[in-house]
Amino acid sequence: MASTAYGDDIYTEPADVDPDTLAHLGPLARLAGRWRGSGGIDVNPKADGPETAAYIETIDLEPIDPQTNGPQLLYGLRYHQHVNKPGERATYHDQVGYWLWEPASGALYQTVSIPRAQTLLATGHASAEATRFELTATRGTTVNGISSQPFLEAAFTTLEYRIVVTLEDGDRWSYDEDTLLQVRGQAEPFHHTDRSTLTRVGAPQPNPLARRR
Ligand code: HEM
Repeated sequence: MASTAYGDDIYTEPADVDPDTLAHLGPLARLAGRWRGSGGIDVNPKADGPETAAYIETIDLEPIDPQTNGPQLLYGLRYHQHVNKPGERATYHDQVGYWLWEPASGALYQTVSIPRAQTLLATGHASAEATRFELTATRGTTVNGISSQPFLEAAFTTLEYRIVVTLEDGDRWSYDEDTLLQVRGQAEPFHHTDRSTLTRVGAPQPNPLARRR
């Protein structure tokens, strides 16, 4: 939705906000809850070339209370993704953030924060009934940008991030991620990819405001 579509009053919030987030998550509704993946495949950059590794993971996606920015209304999920290599206790990848949907426009947002000291905002669009959606972030933009601490920015410059989510038959979904890195000393950008299929292991709790009612 163009920023002008909200009108001149950028402060007044919608009057009739339904507090039940689970009823207004659109294409994100099926993601709410706790998930496990046992067949993840990661391709990451190493000094002597790409390394491909199997991984397992748990993803929690918890409904949050409706979020307004003045007239703009977003519904969403707060998530935590925790990844290990099979049989290993050490964390292989850890990620937190929000998945957000704006019912009025179909806009989708994913915030990504990882403990390499890197953060990004990916954006996309989908209808409430969509079973596949794609979001992207690009280095250098101010609305769906990527921000990295100085060492990463210099040595593993993240140019682009793309995620495709597919809601599968049954209680499963999958993602396909491509993080494009310009690695210092390499002529071509490197496709750091991750893909995995998740199976439900827990139902979502209603968001705090819906629980209180
Ligand atoms: C399930 C998802 C992911 C897994 C399993 C994963 C795993 C890895 C691994 C194993 C490395 C190599 C680390 C090393 O050798 O030191 C790596 C590098 C990197 N990853 Fe990921 N990653 C994932 C997602 C992401 C995402 C979403 C981003 C950012 C948008 C990202 C950014 C980076 C960067 C910048 C590097 C290069 C830094 C380095 O090698 O030290 N990764 N990742």
